[in-house]
Amino acid sequence: MAKGIKFLGTGSYVPDFIVTNDMFAEFLETSDEWISTRTGIKSRPINTDKPNYYMGVQAAKKAIEQSEISPLDIGLIIVTTVNPDFYFPSMSCLIQHNIGADNAMAIDVNAACTGFIYGVDMARRYLYTDDIDYVLVVSSEMLSNQVNYADRSTAVLFGDGAAATIIARDENKLYSSFLGAKGEDGTLLSCRVKYVNTSPYKNEEAIEEFLGDKFKDINPDFIHMNGREVYKFAVDALPNSVSKACEKVGISPDDIDVLIPHQANLRIIEKAVSNLKIPMEKVFVNLEKHGNTSSASIPTCLDEMNRKGLLKENQKLCFVGFGGGFTYGAVIVEL
Ligand code: UT7
Repeated sequence: MAKGIKFLGTGSYVPDFIVTNDMFAEFLETSDEWISTRTGIKSRPINTDKPNYYMGVQAAKKAIEQSEISPLDIGLIIVTTVNPDFYFPSMSCLIQHNIGADNAMAIDVNAACTGFIYGVDMARRYLYTDDIDYVLVVSSEMLSNQVNYADRSTAVLFGDGAAATIIARDENKLYSSFLGAKGEDGTLLSCRVKYVNTSPYKNEEAIEEFLGDKFKDINPDFIHMNGREVYKFAVDALPNSVSKACEKVGISPDDIDVLIPHQANLRIIEKAVSNLKIPMEKVFVNLEKHGNTSSASIPTCLDEMNRKGLLKENQKLCFVGFGGGFTYGAVIVEL
């Protein structure tokens, strides 16, 4: 299938404050050895003093600068995040305001860690069905807002950051995608909305009763995760998504030049690619220094590869991810 896309520019923002595994060991019963061997993560950047959208703005400005377009040329801004700063205005409108993209439509997408993949696929669909020529996709995530730093099984996994790309049409390039979701109810991976200002008419007990016993022991203030179940889902969803995206355009996983998987856990990545029989040399990994930055993880890798000159004309790039909801998906782009 032709009707592909091109990345005109990329950008990312990584907070300066770095939390190492040893720093966690100062206040949690954990160790660098446990975290490194179980996840591959050594340190993660944490945003201590800015709102989430600030990171998205910085990443977007870099992507626009590299694209050599004006912010006014952007027809659509898609922002993917699981932790917006406001219920409204949306993150995309906040970023739009800060970059001066006055001619764009602006929407937020929450597909958890699969967000960037959903965002890229939506961007392409708009590019081919509307009069939009340039789409800005920004993935901006501040998991430190949602993590319980007293819970060693989740605290050590996540980092903060943002990454962005400007996407345009490229009629002659190959493109494929396979996206989906399992409709997980939040008992395996979730973070609930906090209502602070409740109305006098609201019956909170009735709401909790409606949600049922399954949420009784889940702390609504923080990320909740059943790590083993998420792991099992991921090692199946990743290879399956790549295989299905390949099948749709008649190629095999062998034909992929570079695989950029969601950076959650090195063990998950290694298991998934061994199922696909893709050698690790073709897989880009940077989670050692970033941790899991949810939907920002894949575009952060893309920007790192781009700025290191590792992206080459005609390469077949595959993004693959999984996340809360249980969303999943893969996108194949010929450069
Ligand atoms: O973007 C999607 C987000 N989530 C994920 O991708 C997570 C997917 N799951 C995973 O990556 C893994 O399941 C984890 C890294 C979260 C956990 O690794 P595991 O090998 O599945 O460990 P486990 O949950 O089976 O726990 C083994 C032990 C437990 O102790 P007991 O019950 O055996 O005494 C945990 O309490 O390890 C303990 N543990 C820790 N120990 C030291 C859990 N977290 C830690 C920690 N340090 N940070």
